[in-house]
Amino acid sequence: MYECDRSNMWKLLEDFPKMCRQAFFASSGLSPIKVSNVVVAGMGGSAIAGDVVKEWLNPPFPFEVCRGYHLPRWVSKDTLVILISYSGETEETLSCAKEAKMAGAKMVGVGSGGTLSRMLEGHPFVRVPTGLPPRAAFPYLFFSTVRVLKDAGLISAELDEEISEALELLPLVKERAERARELSSKMLDKIVFIYAPPGLFSVAFRFKTQLNENSKMPAKVDYLPELCHNEIVGIRSTPSNVCFVLLRSRWEEERISIRMDFLKSLLEGREVIELRGEGKGRLAEMLSLIYFGDIISYHLAGMRGIDPTPVEEIARLKKVLSAKPFPL
Ligand code: F6R
Repeated sequence: MYECDRSNMWKLLEDFPKMCRQAFFASSGLSPIKVSNVVVAGMGGSAIAGDVVKEWLNPPFPFEVCRGYHLPRWVSKDTLVILISYSGETEETLSCAKEAKMAGAKMVGVGSGGTLSRMLEGHPFVRVPTGLPPRAAFPYLFFSTVRVLKDAGLISAELDEEISEALELLPLVKERAERARELSSKMLDKIVFIYAPPGLFSVAFRFKTQLNENSKMPAKVDYLPELCHNEIVGIRSTPSNVCFVLLRSRWEEERISIRMDFLKSLLEGREVIELRGEGKGRLAEMLSLIYFGDIISYHLAGMRGIDPTPVEEIARLKKVLSAKPFPL
């Protein structure tokens, strides 16, 4: 779509709905298990799959997403640890795999292979297609994680309808590409502050990270109701090159809507964009917003004449780290 899109990120965006389907209908190799809690370990474009699953499910058992070198100390043989790394080479995630093994936890891997798949020999491993930027593999990573939890008997069949709705609705989101382009031009040359209500925290964070990695732009997120206790003080002094994006949810509680209205009144005269997801269910709302945000981040890269695919700083850091291999 843009000449600067040299690795054809647009094609991957077009395939977003197809990837979701493919991953959801693949088997994870798991059968129902008994565990007391779940930890998802991963970083960046892989970890976000865990965040979205957790926020969507709001499960009736402890569920933690662990970004870093160490698992929580309460992980035990009663824990299911889902290790997600698209490349299978992320040292923080490999370190968590080692700790999960030591704790005797039940383990399952999600990724394209690499060291992680070798470390998890003898445990189920959901293999997704290789050769993508990890963040573009989000549909695979997210639905593979859903598949794992479903096959493990940890997602109730009541949510099947929400999943079907989301899968049917996603292809329509791409038709809003023109609207995404219009909104992108409002964000061009701005710093985007994204504010989210409960239920859309992970969506806001995904949008921020896509603006960082695809559009190569700084961006920040904050959350309601917490931001009403700090961020709003002095918000009127925010520099004029900030564009505020308010994510809105049809599931917003009344107290949150009152806070949103107050926030909007403080931001009068500023560039404020409100974004709403589509569909009836919570999953459709979350995934349609994620997909739409991904498209915005793509347009921003294109409008700035920047190739959305390479993430030079991340690659450089990984090279620096590899000079002193992480002891596993
Ligand atoms: C790159 C990206 C990164 C990676 C992260 C972890 O597209 O999104 O945030 O996801 O560096 O790497 P993986 O996902 O391979 O474990």
